[in-house]
Amino acid sequence: MNIAVIGSGYVGLVTGVCLAHIGHTVICVDNNYEKIKRLKLGKVPIYEPGLEELLKKYLKNKRLSFSTSIVDAAKKSTAIFIAVGTPSKKNGEADLTYVENVAGDIARAMDSYKLIVEKSTVPADTGQRIKRTIAMNLPKKFRKGSEVTLDFDVASNPEFLREGCAVHDFMNPDRVVIGVESTKAERLLREIYAPLKPTMVVTDINSAELIKHASNSFLAAKISFINAIAQICDHVGADVLKVAEGMGFDKRIGRKFLDAGIGYGGSCFPKDVDAFIRLSEKSGYHFNLLKEVRSVNEDQKALFVRLIEDKLWIIKDKVIGILGVAFKPDTDDMRNAPAIGIIETLQHEGAKVKVYDPQAMPNAKKVFRDVTYCNDPYALAQGCDCLLLLTEWDEFKKLDFKKIKRVMKHAILFDGRNLYHDQSLKASGFEYYGVGRGMLERKRG
Ligand code: UDX
Ligand code: UDX
Repeated sequence: MNIAVIGSGYVGLVTGVCLAHIGHTVICVDNNYEKIKRLKLGKVPIYEPGLEELLKKYLKNKRLSFSTSIVDAAKKSTAIFIAVGTPSKKNGEADLTYVENVAGDIARAMDSYKLIVEKSTVPADTGQRIKRTIAMNLPKKFRKGSEVTLDFDVASNPEFLREGCAVHDFMNPDRVVIGVESTKAERLLREIYAPLKPTMVVTDINSAELIKHASNSFLAAKISFINAIAQICDHVGADVLKVAEGMGFDKRIGRKFLDAGIGYGGSCFPKDVDAFIRLSEKSGYHFNLLKEVRSVNEDQKALFVRLIEDKLWIIKDKVIGILGVAFKPDTDDMRNAPAIGIIETLQHEGAKVKVYDPQAMPNAKKVFRDVTYCNDPYALAQGCDCLLLLTEWDEFKKLDFKKIKRVMKHAILFDGRNLYHDQSLKASGFEYYGVGRGMLERKRG
């Protein structure tokens, strides 16, 4: 099938490349000329394992192409995926300006049946608004008063891609969710995904949009739950890793997403939790449970800084080395990374901050000021009063801590992701602090 994907960011680009990979002919569109120029040369502007080789392969056999023209792509396609950004407004609501603009551009280019598919994470009822926007912007010849004479469909098809393993997640979906209002739209979407032989969840548009928000919010809730348990473990003197292990064997709970640490970040969870809270309020439901999820997540970063202050005493002029700043491993993405708040707070207290991250430093340089960037963990450790592990990159598991200890001023390590839980750094002479490992002095009483 001829498919267009509008918006070639983390989600749109992976979607476009993988749709080509399963046999379709895809045009990826973006309004960022620079990005499109590089993509046409086979250059992937993001770090996503496995994406670049697929991009080159399908550029070569012409199953994948790039354009900055929505009109051009829409005319050539039967299905048009909208995957443009849906950033948060000040009040937490999803900003759907780009979605509305793109829907209007698509409508003006329509001269035959099109299936318009929401891929971006959008609040419930957005599909209905896209339908109205398209009907209002169709070429005049298809509009007789409020009557519309050109057949089209809008559908919701939310993505469940985790950054760092997005290609894998696309090719091995737990389920493909489609929200449709016609059998034609259902048939087309089933045809698009048939090569993956996935479990299809077919529902109405609003329910499909809610499945996305509810899934992300539940995953965020699971993370905040184990982070709350970690705080209790620190107070009573227990080990959150053992608690998570014991909980996880219950198939109704599952061990995944029970990793305590400095909390969740990224371009989805923080934004989707805010948007879902706002959407619920506007619909008349006060989602206090989800507000608590958000505040536990904020607390985790503040508590981590407090632990550092507690152990380092004066922060001013202390040299603090940061191992990893990306919001999670295997990505270069810094959006809402927990490292941002932690580093800015420590700098505010006068710390001298050094950073090393295997992939995210180019993006980090757009975010931080007055930070020293190092090219490897050993240069980073040079002269540090302590190290913070904020992103659990695999390469950090193989560090030579004897060598690291020799170059540090003081051998203190704060492990924000419990990466070193099974490597007794204490044996290498480190003062080691994890999250939820019963580290805090037991409360008296
Ligand atoms: C975005 C949303 O943030 C996410 O919630 C949604 O699920 C999918 O789309 P992501 O791909 O990470 O996720 O966003 P981003 O990397 O910012 O990509 C958006 C792309 O759309 C950018 O490349 C931007 O240039 C492009 N864009 C934006 C357009 O092509 N046209 C526009 O009008 C606006
Ligand atoms: C998430 C969802 O998993 C995905 O389905 C959705 O489409 C987009 O949002 P992503 O944000 O890429 O994917 O990464 P994910 O692996 O979910 O991690 C999100 C954040 O939670 C990261 O900051 C990670 O460090 C944190 N996290 C994850 C924890 O703190 N503990 C955990 O146990 C798991």
